Amino acid sequence: MRSFAVSVAVGTSALAVVLTATTATRVQAQANPAASPEYYTHTVKPILLANCYRCHAGMNHRGALVLDSKKGILHGGKDGAVLIPGDPANSMLIKLIRHEGPADDPMPMPPKGKLSDADIAAVTAWVKAGAPMPDDQ
Ligand code: HEC
Repeated sequence: MRSFAVSVAVGTSALAVVLTATTATRVQAQANPAASPEYYTHTVKPILLANCYRCHAGMNHRGALVLDSKKGILHGGKDGAVLIPGDPANSMLIKLIRHEGPADDPMPMPPKGKLSDADIAAVTAWVKAGAPMPDDQ
């Protein structure tokens, strides 16, 4: 009888832990939309498509960099990784779109013009959140 009471108590507290963890995850996802893979699909990918794909997708891999697949983004370019998930300040792709990287080789991206502040902020938030992408992208 005593052991039954103990196991009920343990079971209840385990359930409480599970519920707390689930709630915490949900709260975090709400607080930071960039932490979900859908953010890439709906927000980041269209920015890359409009501004980068003509040189970094399909037949074009300028700087040996392909940006239209998860594999390509994670592989990086001729100088290595372009993203460090969680660390936008040290991610080359972010430095280049902020025009904070080298003046040439590699030069600021895109080579002509600059993304809007909102687009730069969106891509930066995504890298900061760990650059999550759906596997089939
Ligand atoms: C008009 C063509 C063109 C467009 C548009 C363009 N790029 Fe590039 N990109 C290049 C070329 C050419 C290089 C390699 C030259 C160099 O290293 O300076 C390069 C290099 C890079 C590199 C460095 C790769 C490495 O390993 O050295 C990154 C990161 C990059 N581009 C990101 C982007 C992003 C992000 C966009 C869109 C916001 C973009 N590029 C748009 C032509 C382009």
